[in-house]
Amino acid sequence: MSLSERIAALEEEVRNAAARTADEVERFRVAMLGRNGAVTALFDDFKQVAAEEKRALGQRLNQLKQSAQARWEELKQASETGAGGAVQEGDPTRPAAIDAAGSLHPITLVRQRIVDTFARIGFTVSQGPEVEDDHHNFSALNFPPDHPARDMQDTFFVEGAGQYALRTHTSSVQVRVMEGSKPPIRTISPGRVYRNEAISARAHCMFHQVEGLYVDKGVSFAELKGTLDHFVKSMFGPDVRIRMRPSYFPFTEPSAEVDMSCTICGGPGCTVCKHSGWVEIMGCGMVDPAVLANCGIDPEVYSGYAFGMGVERIAQLTYRVPDLRLYWENDVRFLEQFRADAFRS
Ligand code: PHE
Repeated sequence: MSLSERIAALEEEVRNAAARTADEVERFRVAMLGRNGAVTALFDDFKQVAAEEKRALGQRLNQLKQSAQARWEELKQASETGAGGAVQEGDPTRPAAIDAAGSLHPITLVRQRIVDTFARIGFTVSQGPEVEDDHHNFSALNFPPDHPARDMQDTFFVEGAGQYALRTHTSSVQVRVMEGSKPPIRTISPGRVYRNEAISARAHCMFHQVEGLYVDKGVSFAELKGTLDHFVKSMFGPDVRIRMRPSYFPFTEPSAEVDMSCTICGGPGCTVCKHSGWVEIMGCGMVDPAVLANCGIDPEVYSGYAFGMGVERIAQLTYRVPDLRLYWENDVRFLEQFRADAFRS
């Protein structure tokens, strides 16, 4: 091996040297820099080097000696501070770096709060498939075959799968619950739903719903109203009021839209409530007797109410987010703003 190669080999050895105990550190010093050490030996051999090589090799040799000394100091310090011979990088006394922790998405937060509110008054939580058949999404819910909601405009059909579609509401889950259990039934169905809508600040082709169902003997519209009033006050505070407007759904009779007093402006009118002081938050009604019968529940014995709301709308009223699309972009600057809330709930 030429002197140059031996220098390179020792440079490598110095770089990789490890020593845990004071003894090992001393052994490193002796092996490299001691009177019979490897580096010292190279200095002896250097005397035989041809004059024209002396300058370049001499420099490298001096560097090697310096780095062996520096490495020895390092190892010595590390063994004294108990760092196990590992190389300390950077300043070990600086404050610890905080990892950026993620947090729950605002839609998740609001969904959880809605679910908790109903769970506290005795509702169970039920879930079902997002790819749904015609029976659960439409037929059992009393949609006539030519109802416009079945139209390609609103529904994403699964290509080549005949009667299957992405569910357009979580009422499909309630059909499954009614088919599979006996009253009393008190359940809510949170989940993602899909509609073929153009994406804008106010609409998206997928969104989240929480739908509720209560079936028992003698369930009344008054109970529905009382429950929804309780829900809205739990979510938004005791001063918020609701009002109901007659409406139509194939699966409820009578049906209503529920408005709540606008939390953004508190009454006088703003862009969110379109200057009316009221915001529509859900649909509801008494379960149509035909739907109960379709699901194997005797409508002569039982009655029920149902309601359904969009989580994004409730989130908009909670957080005043002006544009729905922000929920889907996953821009951390947006998501970060809900961190404090995530830890509160
Ligand atoms: N399923 C309806 C929708 O998707 C909401 C609703 C549920 C209305 C229950 C009335 C009763 O819009």
